[in-house]
Amino acid sequence: MKRVITYGTFDVLHYGHINLLKRAKALGDYLIVACSSDEFNKMKHKESFYTFEQRKMILESVRYVDLVIPESSWEQKREDVIKYNADIFVMGSDWTGKFDFLSDLCEVVYLPRTPDISSTKVKNMLNTK
Ligand code: CTP
Repeated sequence: MKRVITYGTFDVLHYGHINLLKRAKALGDYLIVACSSDEFNKMKHKESFYTFEQRKMILESVRYVDLVIPESSWEQKREDVIKYNADIFVMGSDWTGKFDFLSDLCEVVYLPRTPDISSTKVKNMLNTK
């Protein structure tokens, strides 16, 4: 059983997120998504449209996702990889190189981002309609 873990805010879930989750799941058998808590978003100077509980519920409804856990700090990744026995750590290519320090614990994979879509772009587009 190969376990994959990935991180993100996943606000107003869009097809770029689904592409990422689908490819992440295809790397193994069990996908864990660490979803940024509202407090952690504040630390990142991000404000999401949906609350953590709403984003978690939406992610849990995605067929590729097996478990959603909160992401509350930058430092928790090593602990999570060990605690959840992750074999593969996946992030979108906007993070290339940033998490190579985990490669002593697991495989680190950066997947190409889907072009021309982001939560910020969706929110901006809806605001201008
Ligand atoms: N992602 C992706 N392709 C996109 C958008 C996001 O592959 N077009 C990936 C990111 O690389 C990350 C995960 O989805 O691994 C969660 O990203 P998140 O930051 O929540 O999504 P964004 O749409 O980039 O959000 P924002 O506009 O708030 O930065």
